[in-house]
Amino acid sequence: MADLYDMQAEIYADTRPKYPKEWFALLAALTPHHIVAWDAGTGNGQAAFDQLADHYDRVVATDVSEGQLKHAVPHTKIRYIHTPISMPEDGLLALLGGEDAVDLVTIATAVHCFDLEKFYPVVERALRKPGGVVAYRNLTFPFDSVGVGAEGEQAAFEMKTNASFEWILQLLRTWSTVNIAKKQGINLLPAEVVEELEKAWGGRSLIREVTFSSFVIAGKPRTPATLREG
Ligand SMILES: C[S@@+](CC[C@H](N)C(=O)[O-])C[C@H]1O[C@@H](n2cnc3c(N)ncnc32)[C@H](O)[C@@H]1O
Repeated sequence: MADLYDMQAEIYADTRPKYPKEWFALLAALTPHHIVAWDAGTGNGQAAFDQLADHYDRVVATDVSEGQLKHAVPHTKIRYIHTPISMPEDGLLALLGGEDAVDLVTIATAVHCFDLEKFYPVVERALRKPGGVVAYRNLTFPFDSVGVGAEGEQAAFEMKTNASFEWILQLLRTWSTVNIAKKQGINLLPAEVVEELEKAWGGRSLIREVTFSSFVIAGKPRTPATLREG
């Protein structure tokens, strides 16, 4: 998975729509402490530097792709860390400050890449108890709701941006589906498809307002007492 994101790290940094400030303010308001946030699968760090650093003293921003992290925007509050997929749970936890150290865990647009069975135990151990919150979007969500969505009922948000056709095309080129196919020798965006898309868009020079629908659920560990005793 890391090499898929290494491949398109440069265009990725220029093409992701920006997350609205209100979302992260809402998530930050759910945690009583604002010491450490962990942005997992941070990519070029846009949720870390543009959002989490506004609310937390320190942000740990991790990614399996060194290529993505090379394009991350430096920030005094953020520590970008390369965490290879083979990194053991205890190693990752130590980088986050140990058990009960993290106030907010976010996985912006990355949860589809994660092996969640491996990821949940780290989140549960890393989150501050009580008070720590994890937020991402997924169909399964084994945490107790804290009022922003719940398992099976994701909270919906919209991201709006003014986009040129070129920008949309670059965005499509960052999609993992497109890059997985490319690795297997299949070009999902050949010239004729691009031409058709361009016609549907209304021409290269047209700027359109694009609305991305997005979803999130925020939750806290279900059994903090048991976990701590365990
Ligand atoms: C679609 S990008 C999202 C980046 C950023 N969070 C955003 O919202 O723009 C997904 C990122 O997750 C990273 N990733 C994939 N699997 C991961 C894992 N198991 N642990 C950490 N990062 C991972 C990829 O390298 C990639 O940078």
